Amino acid sequence: MGCTRAVICSQPEVAKAILNSSAFADRPIKESAYQLMFDRAIGFAPYSEYWKNLRRIAALHLFSARRISAFESHRQALTNSMLESIELLAQSQPNSSVKIRGILQKTSLNNIMGSVFGRSYSFGCGDSESEELASMVKEGYDLLGIFNWADHLPLLGFLDLQGIRRRCSDLVPRVYAFVQNIIEEHRASPANRDKGDSDFVDVLLSLQGTEKLSDSDMVAVLWEMIFRGTDTVAILLEWILARLILHPDIQAKIHEELDSVVGNTRQLTESDIPKLHYLQAVVKEVLRIHPPGPLLSWARRSIHDVHVGGHLIPAGTTAYVNMWSITHDEKIWEDPLSFKPDRFLPSAGGVDVNIMGSDLRLAPFGSGRRACPGKALGLQTVHTWLARMLHHFQWLPSQDHPVDLTEVLRLSCEMKAPLYAKPIKRNTVPFQ
Ligand code: HEM
Repeated sequence: MGCTRAVICSQPEVAKAILNSSAFADRPIKESAYQLMFDRAIGFAPYSEYWKNLRRIAALHLFSARRISAFESHRQALTNSMLESIELLAQSQPNSSVKIRGILQKTSLNNIMGSVFGRSYSFGCGDSESEELASMVKEGYDLLGIFNWADHLPLLGFLDLQGIRRRCSDLVPRVYAFVQNIIEEHRASPANRDKGDSDFVDVLLSLQGTEKLSDSDMVAVLWEMIFRGTDTVAILLEWILARLILHPDIQAKIHEELDSVVGNTRQLTESDIPKLHYLQAVVKEVLRIHPPGPLLSWARRSIHDVHVGGHLIPAGTTAYVNMWSITHDEKIWEDPLSFKPDRFLPSAGGVDVNIMGSDLRLAPFGSGRRACPGKALGLQTVHTWLARMLHHFQWLPSQDHPVDLTEVLRLSCEMKAPLYAKPIKRNTVPFQ
């Protein structure tokens, strides 16, 4: 690909060999990622002691089961406001049809801002700080998602024909000012960690000795979390709702499951989720049929020569795993183009595939040492929000904007046309 030596694989065994090999522990160099400081954050940092240290800190203080469950009340409070705004919006529209994407994105951004920065924002209310945050996230997401010719044809880099370098240079000082301001506020009033009210900024500020991070490294790490954690969750939920609107029989089965596990006299809690087997199978089937990172976000780079599947792959080669092709391969999945959550339910003759990285037939969070560290948090958020959205509403198609499943590949694989849906309230359990 241009001057980049690349291999692409579409078989689970080869994908496993690549993603789990210590040789493929680096990411390819991407100009926009470096310009946006991500080489000092987990996702693009070269394989090094620095990267290992960041992963260890994040695993312990942001992604551990204890931290995830400590933030349940935060996730639930956000769900309450999300459901309330969906209800209000539906009432104010002539056909009760609501554009879902913006609501999911804002809730998802607030979710990450709460757990990482201890902050909450009111988007769309004219608050300048919130507007600045939303606009920076959008710009950064666009910049990382653009296919940059200069990554593969270095001579073009000088010309900056796509304007990527200029846009990155405009964005970085804004990000720096925004995140640095939050860091300073945390410095000025440190959290009482004994009371458990600390967020990830407090954690980073408390690091000492060899773990201590410079301010610019902290900005990079914190900024990356906003990126990685926001759109992944929102995009997946939009796909799931789209599928459930197109398959009302499947939606009805989730409603049945919710009625039997939760009933209609109390609010759903996260302790209910492990009992919602069908809902979890639906999430898996959406991850299979619309894998969020079908190709590009999976790229790895070999740090030394290595043999894979009998072929020599030289150091510096970029390896792509074509997850879309694997999850649509009829030799691996029966009737791969059909949406059938039952394929994951042993009680319906299916197989309970582990999606956390051990089975490369479906590994939406990657695999090996660079697998997604936010996978448990991401899945918990998706399961909780989805379950609550379905517990509260029945979702019907919008008359004016039919569901369109056309995909577009940006940083993730997204729905090209935003989803509109008509929510019908189905229970009156008060929000707590
Ligand atoms: C549905 C939700 C999500 C999906 C589908 C997803 C998917 C992925 C994928 C495919 C990778 C590349 C893995 C590899 O190379 O093997 C990745 C990496 C990463 N993800 Fe996620 N992710 C999700 C949620 C999150 C969340 C919530 C966070 C953090 C708040 C996060 C943070 C990261 C980071 C930091 C990396 C880079 C890891 C490294 O290079 O060491 N992700 N994610």
